[in-house]
Amino acid sequence: MSTSEIRVQDLHKSFGDNEVLKGIDLEIAQGEVVCVIGPSGSGKSTLLRCVNLLEEPTGGRVFVGGTEVTDPDVDIDAVRRRIGMVFQQFNLFPHLSVTGNLTLPQRRVLGRSKDDAARIAAENLARVGLAEKADAYPGSLSGGQQQRVAIARALAMGPDVMLFDEPTSALDPELVGDVLAVMRMLADEGMTMMVVTHEMSFAREVADRVVFMDGGVIVEEGAPAQVIGRPAHERTRHFLSRLLDPAMADVEEGSGEGSGEGESSH
Ligand SMILES: Nc1ncnc2c1ncn2[C@@H]1O[C@H](COP(=O)(O)OP(=O)(O)O)[C@@H](O)[C@H]1O
Ligand SMILES: [Mg+2]
Repeated sequence: MSTSEIRVQDLHKSFGDNEVLKGIDLEIAQGEVVCVIGPSGSGKSTLLRCVNLLEEPTGGRVFVGGTEVTDPDVDIDAVRRRIGMVFQQFNLFPHLSVTGNLTLPQRRVLGRSKDDAARIAAENLARVGLAEKADAYPGSLSGGQQQRVAIARALAMGPDVMLFDEPTSALDPELVGDVLAVMRMLADEGMTMMVVTHEMSFAREVADRVVFMDGGVIVEEGAPAQVIGRPAHERTRHFLSRLLDPAMADVEEGSGEGSGEGESSH
C-alpha cells in the first residue's frame, strides 16, 4: 500500500538540554503494523507521544493521515480523534462501569447520543471478548481484562491509527496472551498500528516491520526476520541478547521510564 498513514520527518525532541529524539524519520503505510523496540530510555514513548502531540516536538514534522500534526494551526483535537492510544497503565475510571468507561469519551469528545455510545461500546467489548463484562467495574477485572477494556475504549472512538506503548508490560505473564491476541486481530483487520513492545514473538509474527531505536535514533529497521533474526548492528544484537537473558531483562524492565504514562487521570 502506498498511502502513508503516519509520516515522521527529522523529528527532534529535547527536554531541557537532554536531546531525546535526534532526528527520526519514519513512515507507516495504511494497514501496516510497525513494532518499535529498544532499550529503556531510548525515546520510544517520546516518539509515540510526539505522533499525537502529547509531547511537542522541538524540531521536524509529523503527519497523520495527510494532516500535519506539527502545523501550529492544526486542529489537534480533530487529529487526536483519529488516533487511538493504549498505554502500559490502563487509566480506566474506577468509579465507572466498563460500559461507562467506553461511553464517556464517545459522548464527551464525539458528542454521540447515549444510545449510540452504548451500542458502539457493546460492539467493541464483544470485539475484545468481554461482552459479559459490560456492567463490571474495573477493580473486579484482571489486568489483562482491564487492558482489553482500554483497547475497546480506544476502538469505540473509531480511530484510523492505533498507538500502543508497552501494552503488556504491566501484566502478569499469563495475562499477556489475551491482550496480544486482540492486537493480532486488529492487525489482521487492517488497522494501522505502531506498537512499542518487548514481546519479540509478537513482533516477529505480527509486525510488517520492526524498528530498533537506541539513544534517540533509529539504528535499524526492516522485516522482523531481518531485524530480530539477523540484526545488522551490534547495538541491536546486544539489546536482543539482553532481552533473552532473563537476569538482564529484569534490569531492562526495572529501570524507570521518565515520561509518565498517559495524559488522563488514574
Ligand atoms: N516529560 C519528560 N521530561 C523530562 N525528560 C523526559 C520526559 N519524558 C521522557 N524523558 C526522558 O527522555 C528519555 C527517553 O524517555 P522515553 O521516551 O520514555 O524512553 P523509552 O520509552 O524508550 O523508555 C529518558 O531519558 C527520559 O528520562
Ligand atoms: Mg517507554
